[in-house]
Amino acid sequence: MKIIAFVNNKGGVGKTTCSKLMAEFLSKKKKLRTLCIDFDPQCNFSHQYLHMEIDPAAPEGLMPPIHPDYNPNDEEDQNWDGRSSIAEIFYGQGVIPYPTYVECLDIAPGHAEKLLTAESVRRSEVVDKVHKQLAFFLNSSDVQAAYDAIVIDTAPSKGPLTISVIKAATHIIIPSVMEEQPVQGIYGMLQLWMQESLTREKSRPLQLIGILPNMFKQTRLHKDILKSLQDSPAIGKYVLPVKFSQRIVFAEVDAADSNPRSIFDFPEQHVAKAEAEEVCSHLSERIFA
Ligand SMILES: Nc1ncnc2c1ncn2[C@@H]1O[C@H](COP(=O)(O)OP(=O)(O)OP(=O)(O)O)[C@@H](O)[C@H]1O
Ligand SMILES: [Mg+2]
Repeated sequence: MKIIAFVNNKGGVGKTTCSKLMAEFLSKKKKLRTLCIDFDPQCNFSHQYLHMEIDPAAPEGLMPPIHPDYNPNDEEDQNWDGRSSIAEIFYGQGVIPYPTYVECLDIAPGHAEKLLTAESVRRSEVVDKVHKQLAFFLNSSDVQAAYDAIVIDTAPSKGPLTISVIKAATHIIIPSVMEEQPVQGIYGMLQLWMQESLTREKSRPLQLIGILPNMFKQTRLHKDILKSLQDSPAIGKYVLPVKFSQRIVFAEVDAADSNPRSIFDFPEQHVAKAEAEEVCSHLSERIFA
């Protein structure tokens, strides 16, 4: 089972967009049983597939809807509130993924308040526990038996949540816009990757698939920054040979009333679909090689 995470502590670089494209490519095109995990308290990834609800206990945040399998009349469900998020791993409760409108694609959604609580822990023994919890969940025999691929969307942070993703992942991809600030985020992520690689058992390496330029425009700025990364002796080898262009349709398919809802359901000759297939096939070949 491959555990693929999109990470960059800078915001708005396309972590969620790339996670969604990759998850849909693996489930729709590769027919792999895929689980999306939303590890960002903003819950944008969850919102793509579920009608997330406002949490009355923390109205600025979202929580998952009632699970389709929940039956309040069932004896077994008496001690369950009917909602299940990935954050349950921090509270000793089971995570019950939700099916999505895409075949072979499930999601373990976020829960703003519960994830923020985990993100804000500072006491070293608790931080340590948070760091290990996701790997523990993903290595469980249930998850290993149910899925071929896990795609994790992360928050724009380098806090305990992102570190626990780095510890659990088998492969990471760093999406970035070719502009000064997001490029700074690349360095932070490379540092986390190197730190993690030093402490990992050799049998379970964390593979950096690479830096994925996103929202690329044929402007002087983007071309110059991409070239300087490619030419950098330290970073050049990690820059992927594929990229996502700035295309409004990648944002438009996020709308709940978009038809079709997936780039991969666009007509064969559609330029955004062709680009999504090219990028995702490249990533997938590297990951499943
Ligand atoms: N290639 C693209 N072309 C056009 N729009 C894009 C592209 N990639 C992402 N976007 C849009 O840019 C915005 C930011 O993207 P996204 O939410 O994926 O970034 P993020 O890194 O997940 O942000 P955050 O750090 O807040 O979680 C979104 O509105 C998204 O629809
Ligand atoms: Mg996001």
